[in-house]
Amino acid sequence: MRVIILEDTDDVAHVGASFFLQHLELKPASVFGLATGSSPVALYNCLINAHRNDGVSFSRATTFNLDEYYGIAADHVQSYRHFMQVNLFNHIDVVPSSTHVPDGMAEDPITACLRYEESIAEQGGIDVQLLGIGRNGHIGFNEPSSSLASRTRIKTLTKETIEDNARFFSKDEVQPTLSLTMGIGTIMEAKKVVLIATGRAKAKAIKDSIEGPVSASCPASMLQLHRDTVIVLDSEAASDLDNQAFYQFVEEQRQKLEAA
Ligand code: GLP
Repeated sequence: MRVIILEDTDDVAHVGASFFLQHLELKPASVFGLATGSSPVALYNCLINAHRNDGVSFSRATTFNLDEYYGIAADHVQSYRHFMQVNLFNHIDVVPSSTHVPDGMAEDPITACLRYEESIAEQGGIDVQLLGIGRNGHIGFNEPSSSLASRTRIKTLTKETIEDNARFFSKDEVQPTLSLTMGIGTIMEAKKVVLIATGRAKAKAIKDSIEGPVSASCPASMLQLHRDTVIVLDSEAASDLDNQAFYQFVEEQRQKLEAA
């Protein structure tokens, strides 16, 4: 795993976004895996700015989101589809039919999940997958105890995740307890994974993911077995890591090699 530790939270967004922009330059028809939550918002702003100010085009790109609440319609303000429209899709030139988010209202969710997997495969798989991380180490909505080989399916949310996400719901709104999420096996097939995390609340999950054992108790720890994962952190999210100095030394060596 490549671990990049940055002082400034804004830099996490810029560096995270750079992996997507570099890939898009090489391959305009890139297939991106996208995430929701508060962590990706600044990164999406970087992509929007690249489109507005630098003429970067997403017109040939395809996107697949990690997850969606089950039982919530795409046009509901709390849906992840709505989140993606407001925070990214409405501001770039991606073709609407090329953006995919699991259908939270699917009448037959099992078939819908299988179909989601097939759609990813039909596009040749995901080139670069963006991830945030839950405080309990979840990725997508793959909560602790999720099979490390899992595919897109219905998952029950933990109490901790429901509480963490309660901030997005008003008191009178019914908060979903189920989701449709890509599996850990699905995520592991992405050619590159970029996980971003900021803030002290993520420090333990980051420590367990990078320096703990590979375990279904911390779903993100499975990324230790992925051949091209980059984890971009601010100093607070990195603060529990034992080997911070080494990760920084590796980055310095990398920069020297790139400059040579
Ligand atoms: C949600 C999403 C995850 C996200 C996590 C952390 O549960 N399903 O994809 O990584 O929350 O969100 P935040 O970035 O707001 O901390």
